[in-house]
Amino acid sequence: MQFFVDTADVAAIRELDELGLLDGVTTNPSLIAKSGRKNENVIEEICSFVTGPVSAEVLATDFKGMLSEGKELAKIAPNVAVKVPLTWDGLRACKVLSSEGTMVNVTLCFSANQALLAAKAGATFISPFIGRLDDLALDGMELIRDIRLIYDNYDDLNTQILAASIRGPNHVKDSALAGADVATVPPNVLKALVNHPLTDKGLEAFLADAAKAKG
Ligand code: E4P
Repeated sequence: MQFFVDTADVAAIRELDELGLLDGVTTNPSLIAKSGRKNENVIEEICSFVTGPVSAEVLATDFKGMLSEGKELAKIAPNVAVKVPLTWDGLRACKVLSSEGTMVNVTLCFSANQALLAAKAGATFISPFIGRLDDLALDGMELIRDIRLIYDNYDDLNTQILAASIRGPNHVKDSALAGADVATVPPNVLKALVNHPLTDKGLEAFLADAAKAKG
């Protein structure tokens, strides 16, 4: 399973990248707005040190606008994955961009049929939003399982399932169990994955015993 980090905070990305566990990055307009910087500048800086896919979202909502914005974003670096919304115009833009060799991440996916359409349009990644479904008391993980099953039924559907809108460690574990190819995880959740009180307690005891033996 690949780990992407879901943030536009360059310092946080650098810190996680140094651990050597980062396979890519996803951003979205809300995350970019939080950074207070221009989309292109943030993406360019991330791509200067991250070699895996870096998702950069278009703001246009019409086919032509998405296409021209997508082409500009793709020029920033070869590892930019252009993010388009799951609309008919987004799917059209996805088809063209992916046939030109640009990676495309189709975002805001909330149903298995939408995921099927994205795969037919040649998406590199489909982003089902688990947390936002769970927020409505729906089952985000069921969507991941359904998409996995559908994609595995057909040899010609090669889109990678990118579990998005992850809220906590259980979402990461359950996405892995459901066979998601990638999980895009906020930095605080990614850091929390290592935590276990028994690890801390065990380490403390080992060090105490080693100190006793020395003394
Ligand atoms: C994914 O690419 C999206 O940026 C992200 O996971 C959305 O998460 P949210 O629902 O927490 O905003």
